[in-house]
Amino acid sequence: MKKLILDLDMGVDDAMALAYAIASPEVELVGITTCFGNVRVEQSAHNCLAVLDLLGRPEVPVYLGADRPLQATEPYTPPASTALIHGKNGIGGASVPASPYEPVGATSADGNAAVDYLIDAARTYGSDLVYVATGPLSNLALALERDAAAMMSIGRVVVMGGALTVPGNVSAGAEANMASDPEAADAVLRSGRKLTMVGLDVTHRVVLTRRDIAGWTGSGTMAGCAFASMVEHYIGSYEMNAPYLGGCALHDPLAVAVAVDPTLVGALGCNLRVDLLGEYRGRTICDERRLSDPDKSALVALTVDAPRFLSEFKARMARILG
Ligand code: BDR
Ligand code: CA
Repeated sequence: MKKLILDLDMGVDDAMALAYAIASPEVELVGITTCFGNVRVEQSAHNCLAVLDLLGRPEVPVYLGADRPLQATEPYTPPASTALIHGKNGIGGASVPASPYEPVGATSADGNAAVDYLIDAARTYGSDLVYVATGPLSNLALALERDAAAMMSIGRVVVMGGALTVPGNVSAGAEANMASDPEAADAVLRSGRKLTMVGLDVTHRVVLTRRDIAGWTGSGTMAGCAFASMVEHYIGSYEMNAPYLGGCALHDPLAVAVAVDPTLVGALGCNLRVDLLGEYRGRTICDERRLSDPDKSALVALTVDAPRFLSEFKARMARILG
């Protein structure tokens, strides 16, 4: 069975992605690495531990990762607009009891337990390892810089982020995860590391409605009620910011689902880079200088079997939320 590592900036859809992974018998979740993004990295790690405990998997280790973008001199604190989407605590204001466990590592400018773990896991599991990043790509960029050979040996890398054929969600061109650390994303995309990009091109087509989550509260379990409360907050933010979608986009869960079953999406092979300048900073673009290169490093998901994914998502969530 494939081993799975999730790299999370634990917001509401990251929490659903984690639940989807735990509910997927096709993969074994062996560890979680964390990053700044929807919340500060410490909060991300504590949210991961709390949700793991809630879902009956408290033993999964959680590693503290990047606390800031590659070029920043200070730890990252999310803007107020992010709290409107994911809640001040990142999980929609839901009160989930704290885990008895602590994250591995301390946060500092030069120490990064997540990167150490990722490289060790790559050396241990090699092609049996699947790595899914649903936040900024800072940890992956640092790991590639430190040990490219180990990181190239990982079986599959799936990244939630970017937008190739549709507008961004934080600016005209940029998606949030890419925009949060454009230098890291650009380094990853130019590294030659093969990966699948699950961006807004497909994630805006998989939408969860209030009706879909009604059964979660009805289940009466602590996990069902906590997830319903988180996702109600998240859907509320979409009703304000993107009412045309009719619910919330399942960005991060789709990335995990594609890692488990790549046939859920149709993808274009290309080489990518990230715009680092001006008003389009953070936008993913096809690298025109490498269009003719026969060796394409990225598979960009452009079509998705939304009905099949949504049915898998609802079934797996129902199973794990009780
Ligand atoms: C991505 O940004 C974050 O807010 C979400 O968790 C998701 O990973 C969507 O653009
Ligand atoms: Ca995320």
